[in-house]
Amino acid sequence: MARPLVADIDLDALRHNYCLARELAPHSQALAVIKADAYGHGSVACAAALESLPAGVRPPAFAVASIEEAEALREGHIEAPIVLLEGIFEAGELARVEALGLWLAVHSEWQVNALLAHRPARPIPVWLKVDSGMHRLGFTPEEVTDVWKRLTESPECVTAVQLMSHFATADAVDDGYFRQQLACMRELAQRLDVPLCLANSPATLAWPEAHGAWVRPGVMLYGSDPLEVASDATRRLKPVMTLRSEIIAMRDLNIGEAVGYAGRWRAPRPSRIAVVACGYGDGYDRHAVDGTPVLVAGQPASLAGKVSMDMLTVDVTDIAEAGIGTEVVLWGEASNGRVLSVDTVARHCDTISYTLLTGVLPRVPRRYLGLDA
Ligand SMILES: Cc1ncc(COP(=O)(O)O)c(C=O)c1O
Repeated sequence: MARPLVADIDLDALRHNYCLARELAPHSQALAVIKADAYGHGSVACAAALESLPAGVRPPAFAVASIEEAEALREGHIEAPIVLLEGIFEAGELARVEALGLWLAVHSEWQVNALLAHRPARPIPVWLKVDSGMHRLGFTPEEVTDVWKRLTESPECVTAVQLMSHFATADAVDDGYFRQQLACMRELAQRLDVPLCLANSPATLAWPEAHGAWVRPGVMLYGSDPLEVASDATRRLKPVMTLRSEIIAMRDLNIGEAVGYAGRWRAPRPSRIAVVACGYGDGYDRHAVDGTPVLVAGQPASLAGKVSMDMLTVDVTDIAEAGIGTEVVLWGEASNGRVLSVDTVARHCDTISYTLLTGVLPRVPRRYLGLDA
């Protein structure tokens, strides 16, 4: 029998979450962000699943971080427009951008110069990135007018210019900084009379005033709730990835006996410990503390002891049916329908769902459900 660890990817849930993003932003077009291999879910399979939605509902475009990610999608027969969120990394990529029919973000002077010097056969749709407060990529609000003019005065090279920016705090309850960024972008959009693309998942979920011409949801498509405080909308998200394994061995421990490396967990009572086929060599976070939730036979249980490379250990003293072969869900939906959110697991690892989802390593097979929709 094969090692029982698998990442089940529920493509119906992905389609559901994308439709929720559209429903929340009914006056915007919704770009589907599928960079980092669709946050670990498999970009070609996810894009194909979203493209199987009816015309008018399916994503008008996808977004990735590099030309290699875009190439993988084209090789997988994904034909919709693809935006490179960071644009090109060197001028030599522009020929590939043209050949693949990509759309480009531009965030730096050298990118604008390279694009205008390249003279493409057909003008390339451009998303002009503004640094409205993230202080990472983009032109300052003072620089934007000049760059926008250069771009729009070169219709043979550039078409459909949009303004894009990224929020630093759209997930937070304190909305002061978010509102500052939004005001900056609205002022620019009004002055230049140009469409806006601002909203990541938290802004798509919580800030209708930030929706603009396009929204740009990523993590919510995969069912993770990015908001500091859950809302009616986030409660409608469905988990897409279930990281599922089985118990491969059982141990009975006396009071005081320790489990695993450094003996971090000691039995406070006579205890039954389940050894599960999943470890940091699969991408399960080694920072998970004792007590990190796990579902065993669809019932809540908790991590006991440090995560090893290929295994982790769970206290199943209170789960009578736990035995070799019993289902263990590290996050996602158990066979009995109970859900353990990846966000909850992330909090126990002092991280965010993004790192857990993108961190599932290639040795974990992805199994796609809902392929025939
Ligand atoms: C430029 C840009 N837009 C949109 C997104 C999607 O963000 P989220 O996954 O929070 O929806 C990201 C993700 O990092 C991004 O870098």
